[in-house]
Amino acid sequence: MRIVAFNGSPRGPRSNTDRLLLPFLEGAQEAGATTEVVYLKEQRIEYCQGCFNCWVVTPGVCIHDDDMAALLDKIRAADVIVYATPLYVFTMSAQMKTFLDRHIPLAAPFIVKRGDQYIHPMRHPEAWPKKVVLISNCGFPERHHFSGLLETFRVYTSSPDLELAGAILCTAGELLGQKSASKWVNWYIEATRQAGREVVEVGHITLETQQVLEKPLVKAALYSRMANMYFKRTIKKQR
Ligand SMILES: Cc1cc2nc3c(=O)[nH]c(=O)nc-3n(C[C@H](O)[C@H](O)[C@H](O)COP(=O)(O)O)c2cc1C
Repeated sequence: MRIVAFNGSPRGPRSNTDRLLLPFLEGAQEAGATTEVVYLKEQRIEYCQGCFNCWVVTPGVCIHDDDMAALLDKIRAADVIVYATPLYVFTMSAQMKTFLDRHIPLAAPFIVKRGDQYIHPMRHPEAWPKKVVLISNCGFPERHHFSGLLETFRVYTSSPDLELAGAILCTAGELLGQKSASKWVNWYIEATRQAGREVVEVGHITLETQQVLEKPLVKAALYSRMANMYFKRTIKKQR
């Protein structure tokens, strides 16, 4: 099984997103998968111009000559795609959104009925279906911040070509990178590693592991006290 993971944090390898993504991939490797991580901040990915040239003028080929063509090849070759993004304004980072917009050459323009919905068929049907895993973390301690992001990925994977194999959505994510917080974080990292194993071994994150991953790292009141103490210490005095 081949897994390609895209980290959409502007912090790249120093991100809290990576604190979740890497153990997930380690678990997947332990179960026999081949994995690769692409840091979107290191890629040149122009904005989609909405011209639809990739649909009607040069089918399958975007007007931009940047790093995206090679990334689409990686997606086509993968069995599982991991989208790993910090939560920015209740959704994915701009890097991840720009990347997703540029997936459009993978699909053909036709609108066809599959099951009970209309979809764009994939341009290379032999490369699909694929599984998708969503990984995110956010700065607030409450899960409802993820509701928009999760719904976006539920709709995105509702076609027969994609299946959402699980979502790892970690609140209070700023604890993930703190060495002093390891006692609150280690069990969550272990569940993330287990999720990676399960995606390879059973094709999805099991309900049991998913339920563990929905538990908070710490109580919201404690997290807010710690965060506020940190900011009081750290904020520079205004002149
Ligand atoms: C522009 C911006 C928007 C953010 N929006 C949210 C948000 O809507 N909800 C939330 O809980 N945290 C929000 N955060 C906090 C980040 O999700 C948090 O710092 C996270 O740990 C960053 O992950 P990373 O290190 O992987 O980039 C935001 C941060 C930034 C910089």
